[in-house]
Amino acid sequence: MGFLSVLGMAQRLVKERVSAGDAVIDATCGNGVDARFLAELVGPRGAVYAFDVQEEALARTRERAGGDAAGPLLLVHASHAEMDGHVAEAHRGRIAAAMFNLGYLPGADQAVITEPASTLAALEAAVALLRPGGVVTAVLYPGHPGGREEADAVSAWAASLPQAAGQAMLYRMVQKAEAPYLIAIEKRKA
Ligand SMILES: C[S@@+](CC[C@H](N)C(=O)[O-])C[C@H]1O[C@@H](n2cnc3c(N)ncnc32)[C@H](O)[C@@H]1O
Repeated sequence: MGFLSVLGMAQRLVKERVSAGDAVIDATCGNGVDARFLAELVGPRGAVYAFDVQEEALARTRERAGGDAAGPLLLVHASHAEMDGHVAEAHRGRIAAAMFNLGYLPGADQAVITEPASTLAALEAAVALLRPGGVVTAVLYPGHPGGREEADAVSAWAASLPQAAGQAMLYRMVQKAEAPYLIAIEKRKA
């Protein structure tokens, strides 16, 4: 049967912590797969902030996950490093989950990739926006050009997070050094 994929594990960790009506973040909406999953979890009374730097990704996400005024999806054409400025006051400190799926948009310009400095800034912002018990997931791609440096930077950041801030976990197929892996942070419950 095999273990859950890293993407499947990220979704499982999120699903266990998110309820209808919650506010959540997709930090790299890309093809809209995670945004759709999040929109279905939070339902019409919730909010999904979906960030991407590429119009193409926002269009794909709108197509896959919806984007009508009645739905929960809020598409934001900006770097996730700026997420703090886009989250409504009412949702600050109340975000139930933030998903990062790093790297490039499949089928688009592979030169447009997530970068260590903005990724780390965004991860810091996401943890600050979480509610106690909320989760950040980050899928890392050490096999992509530029991906190893970013994966190493995120791993070092997670390992150095104070335990008083939360728990950091690693989900990785240890026989495959190039395979994608998952880091998740659960914010400490009060
Ligand atoms: C692997 S894809 C995401 C896949 C997506 N989660 C899905 O479910 O289909 C990575 C995305 O990150 C986006 N990206 C790159 N730099 C970014 C940044 N600074 N802020 C937000 N998104 C960024 C890329 O444009 C790309 O669409």
